[in-house]
Formats: sequence, structure tokens, C-alpha cells
Amino acid sequence: MTAHDPTAAPALRTLVVIPTYNELEALPGTLDRLRAAVPDAHVLIADDASPDGTGDLADRRAAEDDAVHVLHRAGKEGLGPAYLAGFRWGLERGYEVLVEMDADASHRPEQLPRILGAIAAGADLAIGSRWVRGGRVYDWPLHRLLLSRGANIYTRAALGLPVRDATAGFRAYRAPLLTSLMAEPVASHGYCFQVDMTRRSAALDADIREVPIDFDERVEGVSKMSGAIVKEALVRVTVWGAQRRAQQLLGLLRYRGPR
Ligand code: GDD
Ligand code: MN
Repeated sequence: MTAHDPTAAPALRTLVVIPTYNELEALPGTLDRLRAAVPDAHVLIADDASPDGTGDLADRRAAEDDAVHVLHRAGKEGLGPAYLAGFRWGLERGYEVLVEMDADASHRPEQLPRILGAIAAGADLAIGSRWVRGGRVYDWPLHRLLLSRGANIYTRAALGLPVRDATAGFRAYRAPLLTSLMAEPVASHGYCFQVDMTRRSAALDADIREVPIDFDERVEGVSKMSGAIVKEALVRVTVWGAQRRAQQLLGLLRYRGPR
């Protein structure tokens, strides 16, 4: 068989959305690795007017590479709105798979084919997971490990999600699922956006699959994680959990038992 099997189904049109805020040092290496690892995928950098000039760098990359695009946003609004704007851009242009990836190479571009493999095998949402067998985190300080583990344990308990890494930011959605998810307004701003989208996918009975990844601590730049982001996540997950319990209770009250 040749490398180009004419009977093989054509690859799904894929857009990798990379949100950026002050990622001038980290972005070039991530883009190089991504373009080499998955040459067929297009890239959209969703930059929130980074003061360090990340947006200009992205423009230069887009000028020299047809597969790279840039979405300039007016100011820092958080991960959620940047992704939603990026997804909208991609859906309008007919991409069939939309990928989320961080700019800082914490997500290894070389492992994206693994995630896309789960989509090709039928998943609606494929999550690159740190917390399934085979998943690993390298060089994270203890407080970040505890935060991520704690957040996922609390989230699973509160929301009953069938997912081990609900806050993961390396994932791929099929366009129809994403269109359904975005039919309702999504208010989450910080990293709880990931939990929000996971919970909505589960509520729609989407086919969600986790594949193990290696998560590397960033080498360049700094994390945008903050107390405000943790607080928003805690409040929202608690409210979603309470809503879920209330709905379960209502269901029980309505249940009259077998006749
Ligand atoms: N456009 C935009 N606007 N991008 C943002 C913003 C924002 O307000 N805040 C963060 N980003 C971008 C960063 O530039 C980076 O590309 C990506 O979002 C992730 O931000 P980091 O600051 O590197 O996140 P982290 O390493 O602390 O957090 C990781 O773990 C979280 C919890 O598990 C990431 O993998 C997150 O996706 C994950 O939710
Ligand atoms: Mn990071």
C-alpha cells in the first residue's frame, strides 16, 4: 500500500485554536512543533491584545504560512471568551474538528495525532488527559499538582462527570457537538470553561473519550492561573453541582413508583 491510499477517507478539516496572552517567547516553538507534527491542520491564534506583542508575532507567522490565522481581540477577557470566538471563526469557515491547545508547549504537539485518532475512531470530544493511566505531569510544583487533582476530584464528586481530567485544555471537538454546545450562552471565563464544556457535552450524551498525554511545565513565560480563576471555578462548580442535585431531587419527587 502506498502512503496515499486513495480509498482512505479524507482527513477531517482541522483547526487548532491557540489562545494567547503574553506568549511571545513560547509561541514560536509551539507553532514550529505543531506545523511539523500535524502539517494538515490549520491554526488560529486568538490573542487578547497581548501587551508583549504576541499579536504582531502571530501576524508575521500568518503572513509567511497560509495555514496560520490570527484573531485579534480587544482585551484580556479570559480563556473562555477567547476560545468561543475562535470556535465561532472556525465553524463559520467549515472546519470539521476544532482543537484546543495551550501556547506554552505544555501540550506536546506531537501527541495531537493521538487525540485526533480518538476523534477519527468516533469520539465527539477527545480529551488529552493527565489523570488517566499513562498520563503524566512533568515538573509541576506541588501546589499546582494538588490544585489540579483537587479540582478534578471535587468536580467529579459535584457533577458526576465520566471524565478524569475535566479541566484539561488539550482536546478536540467535532463541529456538530460544538455547535450544539454553543447554542446556549457559555458564561465561564477562566479555566472552569473547560469543566463547563465537559459538563455540557456529558449532558448531551456525547461520545467523550480520554487519551493519556504527557503534560510538560512551561519553560518560557508565566502561567495566567490566578486566585480569581480558582475562585470562579469553585463557585461555578458548586452552583452547577447544587443545580444537578436539585434536578435529581425533583425527579425523585415526581417519581410515583411502579404501578
Ligand atoms: N486569549 C487569551 N486570553 N488567552 C489566555 C488567557 C486570556 O485571558 N488566559 C490564558 N490564556 C492562554 C495562555 O496564553 C496559554 O496559551 C493558555 O491560555 C493556558 O494558560 P496558562 O497560563 O499556560 O495555563 P496553566 O498552564 O496555568 O493551566 C493549565 O492547566 C489548567 C488547569 O488544568 C492549562 O492546561 C489550562 O488549559 C488548564 O485548564
Ligand atoms: Mn501553561
